[in-house]
Amino acid sequence: MKKILEWTLGILLGVFILMRVYYALTDDFRMGNISYDMPYEKEWEVAALSSSEEQKLETILNQPYTYMSKGSQTYVFLSADGRYVLKFFKFKHLRPALFVEWLPPFGPFKEYQEKQRSRKKRKLFGIYSSYKLAYEVNKEDSGLVFVQLNHFGNKSRQVTLFDKLGIKHEVNLEHIPFVLQKRGKVFRDVLDELLQKGDVETAEKRIGQVFDMYVREYRKGIFDHDRGIMYNLGFVDDVPLHLDVGKLMVNEAISEPDVAKQDLASMGTKIKEWVQRYYPKEYDRLSRYIDNKIKSI
Ligand SMILES: Nc1ncnc2c1ncn2[C@@H]1O[C@H](COP(=O)(O)OP(=O)(O)O)[C@@H](O)[C@H]1O
Ligand SMILES: [Mg+2]
Repeated sequence: MKKILEWTLGILLGVFILMRVYYALTDDFRMGNISYDMPYEKEWEVAALSSSEEQKLETILNQPYTYMSKGSQTYVFLSADGRYVLKFFKFKHLRPALFVEWLPPFGPFKEYQEKQRSRKKRKLFGIYSSYKLAYEVNKEDSGLVFVQLNHFGNKSRQVTLFDKLGIKHEVNLEHIPFVLQKRGKVFRDVLDELLQKGDVETAEKRIGQVFDMYVREYRKGIFDHDRGIMYNLGFVDDVPLHLDVGKLMVNEAISEPDVAKQDLASMGTKIKEWVQRYYPKEYDRLSRYIDNKIKSI
């Protein structure tokens, strides 16, 4: 009996370690995780590209993309020329788990199944509506080149990917939702670089530009529900943009000055916390700059 228990524990531990190694090596990127055979939804269609725009898209896609990183919603690949990122949705979190689909369709099982299906659908549709909003109303400040949200695209959309292990995948994007975006430098890296060389003045300028971008969006009634601004915002050259648009939403209340200022203050707190932690010597100056900037808006 004791031997069986030891063997069982040993096997479980072995499986656990193997899974950890697999996740660390691959981030669980698999074609199955970025594909979802959901029905066509008219709501997720964006304006068709003209033939010259389609050609431009093909040219941008006609270079290899190498695995760069992941977030909770997407896998991110970087183009060979370093100018673009290609994102794929992590459908493993956005569709009902396999065991839910296998439940017998009656009684409490059916009820649970329906609940899970509508929960995942709400989650997916929430993210999709943010991407669509960003593409249609906030394209410049989101650096978006193109989004394909349905898995019914143009046949000519093909791309070569190299995953985290360096394995090559020839991908037909006709059936895979994707997002093509300009590659930016993450906000905290921009500030880090500036503060490391003591350029506090330009750091202030960059923070000010981020606030100005938010104000532009408030005026359009757009609210970014995302608080991870140190890594979900970035700059392309010297221009700020949202790297992560997955939490943008329409919220008319945000165009009211009091609500807007409150939101800016919460963003300001995030920046101050970061400065306090990594550049405490600059805290007083940058904190004052942030408070004055918000007051002046
Ligand atoms: N356009 C981009 N340029 C450079 N890095 C990016 C870009 N988009 C995303 N990243 C990096 O990848 C991470 C994950 O991407 P993100 O869009 O935030 O996905 P998720 O919605 O899953 O969080 C970001 O935090 C950022 O570090
Ligand atoms: Mg993110």
